[in-house]
Amino acid sequence: MNKDTSILVVDDSHDMLELVRRQLVNLGLNPVVSDNVMDAIELLEQTTFDLLITDLNMPKIGGEQLIKFVAEHVQNLPVLVITGYPSIDSAINVMKLGAMEYLIKPFTAEDLAYAIENILSDIPEPSESLVNENRSSYHGIIGASDKMQELYTTIERTRSNRATILINGESGTGKELVARAVHYGSDFSAAPFISVNCGAIPEQLLESELFGHLKGSFTGAISNRAGFFQAAHGGTLFLDEISNTSLAVQAKLLRAIQEKEVTALGATKSQKIDVRIITATNVNLQELVRQGKFREDLYYRLNVIFLEIPPLRDRKGDIVSLVRYFNQKFSKELSKNKLKFHRNVINSFNNYAWPGNVRELENFIQRLVVMHDDEITMVEIPDYMKSKPAQKEEDDEVLSLKEMERKYIQKVLLSFDNNKSKAAQALGIDRKTLREKLK
Ligand SMILES: Nc1ncnc2c1ncn2[C@@H]1O[C@H](COP(=O)(O)OP(=O)(O)OP(=O)(O)O)[C@@H](O)[C@H]1O
Ligand SMILES: [Mg+2]
Repeated sequence: MNKDTSILVVDDSHDMLELVRRQLVNLGLNPVVSDNVMDAIELLEQTTFDLLITDLNMPKIGGEQLIKFVAEHVQNLPVLVITGYPSIDSAINVMKLGAMEYLIKPFTAEDLAYAIENILSDIPEPSESLVNENRSSYHGIIGASDKMQELYTTIERTRSNRATILINGESGTGKELVARAVHYGSDFSAAPFISVNCGAIPEQLLESELFGHLKGSFTGAISNRAGFFQAAHGGTLFLDEISNTSLAVQAKLLRAIQEKEVTALGATKSQKIDVRIITATNVNLQELVRQGKFREDLYYRLNVIFLEIPPLRDRKGDIVSLVRYFNQKFSKELSKNKLKFHRNVINSFNNYAWPGNVRELENFIQRLVVMHDDEITMVEIPDYMKSKPAQKEEDDEVLSLKEMERKYIQKVLLSFDNNKSKAAQALGIDRKTLREKLK
């Protein structure tokens, strides 16, 4: 950064413009300001800038249009989005359009300096992989369907920034796998990836596990202990099943994200922490927000980039490559020959709805590899997986997901003589989940 670095700042609020202008001048930079998109476009056509900083919500023409214009007409101009939190949803879209960083208002002069430094020190070459070439896998994620391509492209957008990421997907769709792919594909892959299952840690413990504690801060705290936040410093903290956190822990999380610092239990001083936070859930968080069970402000903070993993039944094109992949993987593990699959078997895989998603498929193939040595024919396929032509009409009927799930669970249960353990295993869910679903 130097004083030749020219920056165009666009915001409809004159107060904001003046504030940012002053912060930039203090950083020794050379800002030009505009309070509307039309003037900004004119400026961009006349002058070469090193960076564009723009608001999103503006009357008449919004920041998104400006970013689109830049993506199409201006080469190599990085964009920093500044936005209030109600419009973070659109921030996700503009990241896809090519914005490189975002700041949520209000921000400090340090936040601004940090974001600008980040952007200007890293202008990625247009990488080949961003060109629409079909990838059959991405950092361990198997799948070449269009839906997965979209997912890979969005993941790539997160490579060199620390925007928080919320991953949503049904059970067994690969949320944890995707979180790992984000980390190991990022510029911070050499730093730790720490995964925490918020649903598995008792609520009284979660706080000290996350933020650490000092000796004697509570009964049982026999020594100082760093928390997961400290452990993930420089890397990624993956908070799985985030919906299972209490409002008290949510408040602490919010503070940690906002202030970028954490305070261990019993400590008086806080520590600066630099981590990317990825959260995952298989429930609709927005619904929990509506019910008052999840803090809205935290939800927006966590949901800057939203990664939706489609269920397997919505990307049937990936089934065969997953079968091939797991066949290879498990036969290698067991030093066996790969299995062959009869055409009809593959057909029935393609027609089956896989309510337990990739995990169900993985478990199923593993069982086949363990149990069999040669070709898999329809004899080895359980009835519930076979599509029944007699039920064709019913199958064509449009069912709600809930209804479809209910029918499948009933079918699977029946085929296992109501043995819940076996049914749960076949569905790729645990018994507890099955019991809940049965209720
Ligand atoms: N696209 C994929 N390619 C290869 N393996 C996959 C893929 N998706 C999922 N898997 C595998 O399926 C299993 C389940 O994945 P994972 O644990 O990431 O799912 P999840 O969405 O976190 O499930 P849950 O909601 O139950 O926690 C894992 O063994 C994972 O490696
Ligand atoms: Mg998981």
